[in-house]
Amino acid sequence: MNKEFSANRTNGMGTSIFATMSKLAFEHKAVNLGQGFPDFDGPQWLMDEAYKCMKEGKNQYAPTQGILSLRKAISEIQQKYYGMEWNPESDITITAGATEALYSTFQALINEGDEVIMFEPFYDSYQADVILAGGIPRYVTLQKPDFHFDYNELEQTITDKTKIIVINTPHNPTGKVYTFDELNFIAKLTIKHNLLVVSDEVYEFLTFDNAKHIPIASIPGMRDRTITISSAGKTFSMTGWKIGWAIASNKITEAIRKVHQWTTFAVNTPGQHAIAYSFTKLDEYLPNFRKEYLDRRDLLLSELKTTSFNAHKPLGSYFMMVDIPESSMLNDEEIAVELVKNYKIATIPPSVFYGKSNEGRTMLRLCFAKSNETLIEGAENLRKFK
Ligand SMILES: Cc1ncc(COP(=O)(O)O)c(C=O)c1O
Repeated sequence: MNKEFSANRTNGMGTSIFATMSKLAFEHKAVNLGQGFPDFDGPQWLMDEAYKCMKEGKNQYAPTQGILSLRKAISEIQQKYYGMEWNPESDITITAGATEALYSTFQALINEGDEVIMFEPFYDSYQADVILAGGIPRYVTLQKPDFHFDYNELEQTITDKTKIIVINTPHNPTGKVYTFDELNFIAKLTIKHNLLVVSDEVYEFLTFDNAKHIPIASIPGMRDRTITISSAGKTFSMTGWKIGWAIASNKITEAIRKVHQWTTFAVNTPGQHAIAYSFTKLDEYLPNFRKEYLDRRDLLLSELKTTSFNAHKPLGSYFMMVDIPESSMLNDEEIAVELVKNYKIATIPPSVFYGKSNEGRTMLRLCFAKSNETLIEGAENLRKFK
């Protein structure tokens, strides 16, 4: 075919690194610490509830904004855990995972040429969504070892074209949990420059040690400037259910719903009912959920001590970054291919999550949402790499 049919906006968008690494892992029968989802199921009672909902006939289209009982449950959680008041009728939209919430939000807010600041390493859909919406991504680097950012760098990245700052806390891929000081600084700049914040909080219930998740919307002056995005997939270890949401003040929600309506229209009905039910059990569910992930994090950290990969201890999410041994003289992509082919261990080379600096070349991302056997076997394979 000599005619180019694909739209220009798709130029430069390749296959995601997750698909590439998972394919290699499969071909080489490697232990997969790359792919970012659990290798186990969420709770049995939640699956039973979904099945019950199907048998009860909750199988036709849901309202486009999502079923009211789920929106109410989300509003109650926001009240109970963060002291935030959101109207389920006008401020909350159920989407096909956080991925669609992000897409619909960026489509709803960005005009051609608007600049959007994101912290690198970033969750890769932010960059793609901003470009698809005609926006221009700008980057601020989270720096090793604790993945802090330089306040001056952030301030200097703001121009008169800046419209949005994107944050993700707890953070994929570093496990950083933004501190109150950091969030407060971002909030001050947002208010000073009349900006918005898109805050991706899909790991909101997955924090460790003394780290505390703070929604930036709860900082004074930020409620009406923040679009908070989250998802049930991580909290209930059911990433394939794809039930997410966007929370924002009425006017912004109206714009998001316009895009959502013509993107997915409505999200799977029995799943929404089952998640609404699961939120009534959140208090009793969370302690064990956190403990299990904490144990997995600590197991992997302790196993990694006897490898040549130095780990950066995560305070949230189910990811951690490890340094590539300098003696290897390999960058992240080279070593990821070497490890999967010759050491049977799949990881994610994170340089694709950077738009500006070369920091990603020096690290690999590991996911610890895996069974103990997988974590131990994965570390064993890494140990063989000298
Ligand atoms: C930071 C972050 N945001 C969003 C998503 C996508 O969430 P969902 O599966 O609900 O679309 C992920 C999934 O890995 C993620 O890590």
